[in-house]
Amino acid sequence: MDNTDAIPSMPEGYLKELKRAEARKTDISKQIQEWFPSEAKILFEAGCGHGHWLTSYAMEHPEQICLGIDLIAGRVDKANKKKDKRDLQDLHFLKAELGEFLEILPKEVTFEAVVFLFPDPWPKARHHKKRMIQDALLEQLAIRMESGGKFYFRTDDQSYFDWTVEHLNESKFWKINSDAGWLHEETTYFQNLMEGYYSVIAEVV
Ligand SMILES: C[S@@+](CC[C@H](N)C(=O)[O-])C[C@H]1O[C@@H](n2cnc3c(N)ncnc32)[C@H](O)[C@@H]1O
Repeated sequence: MDNTDAIPSMPEGYLKELKRAEARKTDISKQIQEWFPSEAKILFEAGCGHGHWLTSYAMEHPEQICLGIDLIAGRVDKANKKKDKRDLQDLHFLKAELGEFLEILPKEVTFEAVVFLFPDPWPKARHHKKRMIQDALLEQLAIRMESGGKFYFRTDDQSYFDWTVEHLNESKFWKINSDAGWLHEETTYFQNLMEGYYSVIAEVV
């Protein structure tokens, strides 16, 4: 029995979506088990798009397990083609939504570092809750990392940059490290479209 069987009076559409979500989560869990040892420490990129940055990073760091996730299947397919072309065994791209992914990622899997490059800015105030960077997310990431583990964030959107700096400053889990260098430079698909950008690096307290 999955948890949708327990609530018989739910509208049919909602019930179907819950069942789809359960199926997605099962697929993601199976995939993770196939790819990683149970206590893997991974370099994690959320919203990896076409995989330019992570593929380039993985080529320089073949010893590191790298995982990029993105909501859009076509982008993940392109990222996987880059990985296959270069035969990078420890680089993985997965179609997944960040919240759903973190919910089912086994707690033994930890992050070496986390990277957000040009995440959707959701500029209207009423949409700010859709931004990936939220207090709960900062906590979820930090608890999978060791003290000193780093968070790399880059955006072309000043308002999203300010938002992220503010949330990091208010978080008891993170402190901004203004002296740290950028992990790896490689122009992403979206970076290429932008005139400029802002970057912030923080580390787990
Ligand atoms: C503006 S694009 C940037 C892509 C890439 N990082 C780059 O710089 O080219 C933002 C990406 O984040 C993905 N995304 C947005 N919300 C997401 C979520 N909740 N979980 C996973 N991916 C998400 C989108 O599908 C999109 O590909």
